[in-house]
Amino acid sequence: MKRLIAIVVLAGCAAAACAQAPRPARDIGQSDPPTFVAEPSGGSRVPDVIYVPTPEPVVQAMLELVRPGPRDLVFDLGCGDGRIVIAAAKRYGARGVCVDIDPDRIAEARDNVRRAGVADRIQIVQGDLFELDLSRATVITLYLLPDLNLMLRPKLEKLPRGTRIVSHAFDMGDWTPDRKLTVADKEIFFWVVK
Ligand SMILES: C[S@@+](CC[C@H](N)C(=O)[O-])C[C@H]1O[C@@H](n2cnc3c(N)ncnc32)[C@H](O)[C@@H]1O
Repeated sequence: MKRLIAIVVLAGCAAAACAQAPRPARDIGQSDPPTFVAEPSGGSRVPDVIYVPTPEPVVQAMLELVRPGPRDLVFDLGCGDGRIVIAAAKRYGARGVCVDIDPDRIAEARDNVRRAGVADRIQIVQGDLFELDLSRATVITLYLLPDLNLMLRPKLEKLPRGTRIVSHAFDMGDWTPDRKLTVADKEIFFWVVK
């Protein structure tokens, strides 16, 4: 019995000591997440389009069209696992915002951003892309659906002159793209806001 009491007391002390032990200010390798945009306030709802990742050669071609740099803020609207924004940060030194409405995608994107070592340059936002303030974006990447692109178009056309927009697979109705490419059988559309 005495032995049991000692074990319980020791365990309690160990837990208390552990709670009081000095900890490093942050884990090694962890970076503060940046805040470029306010989180949308709306609750969660069913996604407007299912998750299908953009294949790597198409990601590369999309980024070669927009040529992001360290001064750019790249928004992927419906970012899935975060691959486009991560590639923009890692290969081009850009900063970015990764927004998705699906909590599973957000968890995946967060993990991928951390593992890619770009957590200090990418904000992950869980929420509805239609509720997001896009005014700070200098580059917008899309892989949605034709009707979703059309719903976004009035907002995109009002963005500052020079904002670059690139869409995998789907156009914007009669908004003539500045460039159009086909890569790995996938069409890519590119606009610069005038
Ligand atoms: C076709 S996937 C594209 C993923 C990523 N952009 C890529 O190209 O690899 C579309 C993504 O949009 C997300 N999505 C759908 N409706 C959304 C909404 N209203 N707001 C934010 N994300 C949304 C889905 O959860 C999904 O991850």
